Amino acid sequence: MLRSVILAASRSSQVERLVATAPFTRDVVRRFVAGAATDDALRATRELVADGQAVTLDYLGEDTTTPEQANATRDEYLRLLSRLGAAGLTPGAEVSVKLSALGQMFDEQLAYDNARAICAAADAAGTTVTLDMEDHTTTDSTLDILAKLRKDHPSTGAVLQAYLRRTESDCRELASAGSRVRLCKGAYKEPESVAYQSAREVDKSYVRCMNVLMSGDGYPMLATHDPRLIAIGEDRARWFDREPGRFEFQMLYGIRPDEQKRLVDEGYTVRTYVPYGDQWYGYLMRRLAERPANLAFFGRAVLSK
Ligand code: FDA
Repeated sequence: MLRSVILAASRSSQVERLVATAPFTRDVVRRFVAGAATDDALRATRELVADGQAVTLDYLGEDTTTPEQANATRDEYLRLLSRLGAAGLTPGAEVSVKLSALGQMFDEQLAYDNARAICAAADAAGTTVTLDMEDHTTTDSTLDILAKLRKDHPSTGAVLQAYLRRTESDCRELASAGSRVRLCKGAYKEPESVAYQSAREVDKSYVRCMNVLMSGDGYPMLATHDPRLIAIGEDRARWFDREPGRFEFQMLYGIRPDEQKRLVDEGYTVRTYVPYGDQWYGYLMRRLAERPANLAFFGRAVLSK
């Protein structure tokens, strides 16, 4: 119930204005977002790389409504990739891209052209791109664009969301040599017709999808903070002889850093998803919805002002 309310608020510009101007917001944002500028993204990347981690960087923004916004997002990714390459931070650091930030909602061809430019820049910098997955109305379009991008940029990765009923079948399609798939639970509010609703059903689907990916020929990226699923991931890695380097764990910036360190110390590849930029509202609200206990963190920030 609380999750639904927070996810509904994540689409409200009125609530956004309220949250964005509240004095306590900065402290909360700082926990989940590396900062507003490209320099902040590079600083966070250097720190994580020094700790033995890999990184994927997300320039925050989604649902852009004009070509100018979409092209500005593309240009920031081009700048970021060139700086990552120049700083010697690739291939350890790659980028994650939301197609809706590149124009998908109003011009699919523009989103594809922008994504293609970002993939070319990633190639030049010696790294890769992963396409984030947004709500279910965009899944087909995102997978179509992925297939087109992979013709010239075969290492382009996709995200699949275990809460969608279709995902086990999508995993089978994508568990082929050269493909990179990030498996997550899914962060949007979705109807029962397309998505499992209970945590137990989502977790069971996650395990089925993980089995498909770990037993397949692609490169699985297990994106979860869930201790039970991480333990099952470690088990499947042993079962399917996937030594570290043939799959990876992924977590979000600021969430379970101790577990990230434990996995690095165990010799696993761990990639942290680092968001930066000033369009943090939708991202922050999804993090609050995942774990309403984070509202207490919000509450403490309010009381301390
Ligand atoms: P779950 O939410 O059950 O959490 C398990 C445990 O992890 C919690 O008990 C808590 O300890 C900890 N935890 C989880 N979330 C937390 C939070 N916000 N704050 C503090 N602790 C928390 N989704 C999507 O729809 N499209 C996408 O493209 C992506 N991309 C993506 C990339 C990466 C690298 C990750 C890790 C996640 C995503 N997601 C995503 C988000 C994903 O779908 C999911 O919403 C979150 O990862 C939370 O699910 P968990 O698997 O962590 O389990």
